[in-house]
Amino acid sequence: MSKKYIQAIKGMNDILPIQTPLWQHIEEKIRHVLEAYSYQEIRLPLLEKTELFSRAIGEVTDIVEKEMFTFLDRPDKHGKADSLTLRPEGTVGCVRAGIEQGLFYNQIRRLWYMGPMFRHENPQKGRYRQFYQIGAEVYGLSGPDIDAEIILMTARFWQHLGINDLELQINSLGTASTRATYREHLVKYFSDHHSELDADSQRRLHKNPLRILDSKNPEIQALIEAAPQLLDYLDEESQAHFTGLKQLLDHIGITYQVNPRLVRGLDYYNRTVFEWVTKSLGSQGTVCAGGRYDSLVEQQGGHSTPAIGFAMGIERLALLLSQNVPDNTPHIYLIMVGEKTITQGFSLAESLRDALPKLRLLTHCGGGSFKSQFKRADKSGALMALILGEDEIAKQQVTLKYLREKKPQISLAQTEIVEYLSPFFSN
Ligand code: HAM
Repeated sequence: MSKKYIQAIKGMNDILPIQTPLWQHIEEKIRHVLEAYSYQEIRLPLLEKTELFSRAIGEVTDIVEKEMFTFLDRPDKHGKADSLTLRPEGTVGCVRAGIEQGLFYNQIRRLWYMGPMFRHENPQKGRYRQFYQIGAEVYGLSGPDIDAEIILMTARFWQHLGINDLELQINSLGTASTRATYREHLVKYFSDHHSELDADSQRRLHKNPLRILDSKNPEIQALIEAAPQLLDYLDEESQAHFTGLKQLLDHIGITYQVNPRLVRGLDYYNRTVFEWVTKSLGSQGTVCAGGRYDSLVEQQGGHSTPAIGFAMGIERLALLLSQNVPDNTPHIYLIMVGEKTITQGFSLAESLRDALPKLRLLTHCGGGSFKSQFKRADKSGALMALILGEDEIAKQQVTLKYLREKKPQISLAQTEIVEYLSPFFSN
């Protein structure tokens, strides 16, 4: 049966009031940690020119080949229209902004951002077409110390959020030239086994052979296992960088697995790459991922600037934390019966909100009998009702009724309410 109303686009979700407390909780905890490491927020456009992404992410990546939401802008007065793309990730736009706004030259920057990203993927649990990332990027530091700091900061996110089943995987992709040598060996190896490759991998063989290592197809896993490993081809400096990172992580006590097949799905990376993965989200188990991209700023037209960053998917964090949804039901429902009670009721509500910043107070609007208002109070989930009727107004009082506990209702002078409530709601 066809639906009469227009539905949301496939893979684009409404985040409902029942979910937003958890999202706010996640965002707040992460923001708090980012601030503790002195990262500064940057807000970036959702739309950029298509060529920005295709150049930086790589022409032969899944994202650029088949996942971008791309369309033509309206033509300008000469009839020329730009191709625009809804950002599939945040790093490239951050680099664009940094070059354009002069944020990088001779400076060190620690930046973070949050917001929706768009990829035309096949939706499934943990994978959507509009999804939200919180990401961070550091510019101007080339040593393994900042790689370790970033990983340390991500570990603190999990600690603050109470997530403890994530495994850290790290790898080094070396430099462009070590990758070129490695690439030759890899192409030779996979060419020797050409008939055993699946169609996707055969297509990638000459365009982007490293991505074959990323394949999830179980039928070619044995072949991938036996393939030459990038770590054996690392140049001396990359080797020293990777050793430096591992030593720092060992020293700080962060447990990790070196995963030689971790190559990441975007082409801009070099040296350190890492992912935090969980087994409890099925095939979409990467919660947070990132790495170094020392050539991207220069490649995009800026001065050579080393860089490293990561991003995490908020939906995946929310799935992991779905058992701990924070409560956002109102604490108190204010019932006002009789026309004259409304003005006093509103002043009372404002004074309570002034005095008790943690209080969630829902004032009744729309009039009605005591019975109908009381029904709404009960339905709201509030713990208590404050009742203001004409009797109470005359006596400058308010009646307090517990809605979830068997306690007698009490009358309080309006001047005493804050004092009575403050032990419940002051912090
Ligand atoms: P990414 O691995 O493409 O990296 O995405 C990072 C994270 O975003 C993933 O680990 C996952 O949690 C989440 N994510 C990605 N795609 C989806 C999707 N379709 N639905 C739900 N969640 C998703 C990047 O985006 C890089 N920009 C990270 C980075 C920053 N590297 C350096 N700096």
